Amino acid sequence: MHIKKLTLYSFRSYLNESIELSPKVNIFVGDNGAGKTNILESIYSLASTKSYKNKDEDMILEGKDFFKISSEIEFENRIDTLLFIMSRQGKKVFKNNVEVKKISEFVGNLNVVLFSPEDLFLLKAGPSERRKLIDLSLMQISKKYVEDYQNFKKQLKLRNDYLKYLYPKLKDGESIEDEMLGILTLNFININKLIFEARENFLKRLEEYTKQSYKELSGTNDDISFVYETNFDSSMDFFKEKYQSDIINGSTQYGCHRDDVRFLRNGIDLESTASQGELRMLSLSIKIALSRMIKDMKKEAPVVLLDDVLSELDINHQNRLLSMLDKSMQIIITTTDILKINQSSIKNAKLFKVEDKHVKEIQNGR
Ligand SMILES: Nc1ncnc2c1ncn2[C@@H]1O[C@H](COP(=O)(O)OP(=O)(O)OP(=O)(O)O)[C@@H](O)[C@H]1O
Ligand SMILES: [Mg+2]
Repeated sequence: MHIKKLTLYSFRSYLNESIELSPKVNIFVGDNGAGKTNILESIYSLASTKSYKNKDEDMILEGKDFFKISSEIEFENRIDTLLFIMSRQGKKVFKNNVEVKKISEFVGNLNVVLFSPEDLFLLKAGPSERRKLIDLSLMQISKKYVEDYQNFKKQLKLRNDYLKYLYPKLKDGESIEDEMLGILTLNFININKLIFEARENFLKRLEEYTKQSYKELSGTNDDISFVYETNFDSSMDFFKEKYQSDIINGSTQYGCHRDDVRFLRNGIDLESTASQGELRMLSLSIKIALSRMIKDMKKEAPVVLLDDVLSELDINHQNRLLSMLDKSMQIIITTTDILKINQSSIKNAKLFKVEDKHVKEIQNGR
């Protein structure tokens, strides 16, 4: 799978821009703020219908009412067109000119794995960033997860709203017997079980792939392992015990919305011990693992987006990283300085200059 053509209309800094990409390596060069990341974000949001940076609405060019991202995605024996339109009223997605009513049917048509400078903070950031990585990855792999996740969010909100409604009715020391809360809790537990199982399975598989990729990238024999942490308990009695404190808090305190994952090297928590370089190695290994896993599961290589990460690595690690990515993968790289990238790996790349809110092709790759 690769993106053949990408057209952006009123997306971030672009008014109307059309780009023809190489099926292999593409490099976007430009100064800080030129609009390189915006291009990768447009691809990412075409795949996921979400921004990975901030509010989805922020992707609309200032002063405009909507954006449009259209694309031609080439497979071995066909070309699909994917179109994502977002206005302040909502989102619409189209495949081959037919509107796809369910987002879950659209996500997964284009698979991408993004390597971004923020990945470095994956370990240091809060749990929500790590959950985002799990959720967005799972959504690409499983349509069912997209639906389950939407349902999970809905059930959580319904329960939280009801907890807030109950607060003024709460009487000191009295046990809470509320039929509606019972129903909402049961629904929440049931959808939670699905999310828990999906995340647990996903993390087990990703862990296996990461063990391998970390060894390859670091050139060590270190053993990486994941610990999935959840405070979810599927018993109704457990939730009943928490009714009172949930109502006082005005929110559900137990469930997969509080999940986290920790990363260990040779059994020791990396968060507190790893150096900058080791953190980078781990986050890159996870992303390589993810791209391999997606390829194996979907029988189709994902598009790899490397936002500013290559220039941070020494030539040795650049080469290792690029050689670990599957030869069939389309790779899109951004950099401020082309000289920081190993010249031999960009020999055949298609090169673009990003300047004055436009993209100009300066070298056609083979
Ligand atoms: N909704 C929007 N409307 C108009 N301009 C926007 C919008 N969102 C972002 N921009 C502009 O896009 C530019 C940033 O683009 P981008 O992040 O792609 O730069 P970059 O080339 O990746 O820079 P760096 O090298 O610093 O990472 C900023 O000038 C910002 O003001
Ligand atoms: Mg950038």
